Amino acid sequence: MNLKRTLRNAFPFLTIKYRTVRDKFSQNEAYYKSAYMEALSMVDQINSKPFDKKMVEDFERNTKNQTYSSARANIETNNSCNIDCAMCQTSSSTRVKGIMEDELLEHSIEELVKNGRTDIAVHTIGEPTANPKFKTVLKLFRKNGIVMGLSTNGLLIHKHIENIIEYRDVCPVVHFSVDGATKETYEKIRIRGNWDKLIENINLAYKTLRKNGVPLKFSLCMSKDNVHEIGDFIVRFRDYVENPSKDLYVGAINSLAPDNTYFNHVNIFPNHTYLNSPCWQVGTPTPHILIDGRVSACCRDYDGSIVIGDINKNSLKEILQGDKLKSLTEEHRSKNLKDRPLCESCFVVDDRVNDIFGSLLERTLKRNPRETSEFYQNIVNNFIKLFQKKPSREEVQHLFDAV
Ligand SMILES: C[S@@+](CC[C@H](N)C(=O)[O-])C[C@H]1O[C@@H](n2cnc3c(N)ncnc32)[C@H](O)[C@@H]1O
Ligand code: SF4
Ligand code: SF4
Repeated sequence: MNLKRTLRNAFPFLTIKYRTVRDKFSQNEAYYKSAYMEALSMVDQINSKPFDKKMVEDFERNTKNQTYSSARANIETNNSCNIDCAMCQTSSSTRVKGIMEDELLEHSIEELVKNGRTDIAVHTIGEPTANPKFKTVLKLFRKNGIVMGLSTNGLLIHKHIENIIEYRDVCPVVHFSVDGATKETYEKIRIRGNWDKLIENINLAYKTLRKNGVPLKFSLCMSKDNVHEIGDFIVRFRDYVENPSKDLYVGAINSLAPDNTYFNHVNIFPNHTYLNSPCWQVGTPTPHILIDGRVSACCRDYDGSIVIGDINKNSLKEILQGDKLKSLTEEHRSKNLKDRPLCESCFVVDDRVNDIFGSLLERTLKRNPRETSEFYQNIVNNFIKLFQKKPSREEVQHLFDAV
């Protein structure tokens, strides 16, 4: 175990203190000035360059010059889930449900580490804590000296508290996806979820994990079903986190579930929504190792049709340089997606809209950490009103200046 991780285990509160001091120094006036200028420049870009053009440019730059390198990867330690959220519909995956075998998991981790992929999330679509062998996953991550990204629906976290504390060097943060601030909204979106159990588990995690140096984060996947509760979401969850401006995340819904009915019904920004091609995930390949060892280029591979190789048969390097990825890349380059029904029906909201919203929210929370739910909701509503049409630079500037 390296020094940083030894210290994290020995002095849990140092971790939280360190994060607080780090954020205090990094989130300074110069940082906010630069974020402000960048947000305004993105408004200009949205108005001058439609997102489909930007996607093509980014794709060409990343694939031709291979300018993109990343430490990111996903291992689908299990693809089962205890619930079935409306915007994800994990039950609609046609792949067999299961848990990755230990030997394959170890081999996958080793291959990823060998290729510099050390920022590893333990899910694609599925709930990592629904894996009864979650402790083995933690053990194997520690053995290979890497940390995991844990995003969870939180409903089963009570089963893993002791393990997470024991392996806090491996699991330094727990990210709860909650998507609502009331029982009614939460249970409408997170189908089969139980709001009371969620809150009980969040309280438990706050008392146990946080006390032991594992901070919490919360996210909301913004849609017409929950947008009216963003102010409540902030007020409800801000006291569980160290730095609300960094630890509360809100992003627009995309068409993750293959059936787009729900997405089309609740998408707030249809005017900023585009066919996801050429796709970022193809142009900047991030390996997603599925439970059976096949490697997909995509987090949204509900049927295994974006598979580019098999870690049981080839090295990760061979897979990333292989013909299957080349052919997927060409299909996206030429927008010839007739053999990729998943890609043909994959839509995204212009990420510049998300980035500007994220920047506005961060600024708002940093400068106004103890405001009322109405105060935050008003800012969200103003943003949405502006972006449901083409926003002008002056209007967005006014929005930022008001916080
Ligand atoms: C697919 S889940 C898997 C991990 C875990 N089960 C969870 O819910 O956090 C990963 C993240 O995707 C988000 N997500 C699900 N459906 C989405 C959609 N249609 N658009 C954007 N994000 C989505 C979830 O809210 C969650 O934060
Ligand atoms: S978002 Fe997470 S919890 Fe919800 S259905 Fe998908 S995998 Fe399960
Ligand atoms: S389904 Fe296709 S277009 Fe959508 S994210 Fe996956 S690879 Fe990209």
